[in-house]
Amino acid sequence: MRIERVGVIGSGLMGSGIAQVAAYHGFNVTLVDIDQARVDAAIDGIHRRLLREAERGRITAEDCEASYQRLNGVADMDTLNSMARVDAVIEAVVEDLEVKGSVFRRLGEVCTPGTLLASNTSSLPLSDLAAASKRPERVIGLHFFNPPWALKLVEIVSTASTTDETLTDAMRFCEKLGRVPVQVKDTPGFIANRLLVPFIFDAIDLLDSGVSSAEDIDNACKVGLNHTMGPLATADLIGLDTLKLIAESMFEEYGEPRFKAPTLLRRLVSLGHLGRKTGRGFFKYAE
Ligand code: NAI
Repeated sequence: MRIERVGVIGSGLMGSGIAQVAAYHGFNVTLVDIDQARVDAAIDGIHRRLLREAERGRITAEDCEASYQRLNGVADMDTLNSMARVDAVIEAVVEDLEVKGSVFRRLGEVCTPGTLLASNTSSLPLSDLAAASKRPERVIGLHFFNPPWALKLVEIVSTASTTDETLTDAMRFCEKLGRVPVQVKDTPGFIANRLLVPFIFDAIDLLDSGVSSAEDIDNACKVGLNHTMGPLATADLIGLDTLKLIAESMFEEYGEPRFKAPTLLRRLVSLGHLGRKTGRGFFKYAE
């Protein structure tokens, strides 16, 4: 099927980044959130990032403005009526099965029958979202990486009900978005988070048990293992609240202690130290 108009639900860290990638690659994008102020702030943020890319000579000034013009923000999270006019939806709301389930229920009611219904979930059962939509054959996982405009990987997640046609549409869509897809079955954490989450939790354990400092733990991985970013800085980038939610759903599914959110992570979330987005997590960030 031909995809021209894309809906992105949730204008947070991931939703705004995915909307940016889609607009830059020529799609008309409707970005949805629960209030207009949030959507407007997200579109301003995208514009600022595009302008910065143009200043650095990575994109042209024309592409920057054309991308911005292709973005439209709507605050109809409660009805999702704007999704009746799109060819593909990417859902990127909070990592909460109830919230995502109600989004997919509504998408099943409001979208035209051929619409591709994708979730950016990191760890929740896609099959539950597929069932909620009542059109499971068109539901697929498109798991983008953070930040979406810089990291090209997309994990394409199929359930037992996803049709070959849906998978082909999703692969073509990813190619048009300039992404590199890998295919994976509907399992908590897919490939990357299944490997990454226990690694980050071991780093938190090293910190909390006083074995080393946050700086030295991250430096050991950067300088010694050639990682571009250390595990604690990666946790701050993901958002400690989101990481905790991802871990909770992986722990519930696998029941293995290596996926259990460490106490220090939970305490930082309680205190509102969520990482980069609040200026403090395992590290402090300038406003
Ligand atoms: P975020 O916290 O930046 O954004 C969450 C979004 O959900 C916001 O737009 C917010 O307005 C909306 N929201 C919150 N409560 C809501 C409710 N009750 N009803 C409807 N919308 C609500 O989170 P982020 O990081 O953008 O994560 C979104 C999704 O992307 C999650 O499924 C997460 O697992 C996934 N993801 C996150 C990555 C990361 O590094 N942060 C990487 C890849 C996927």
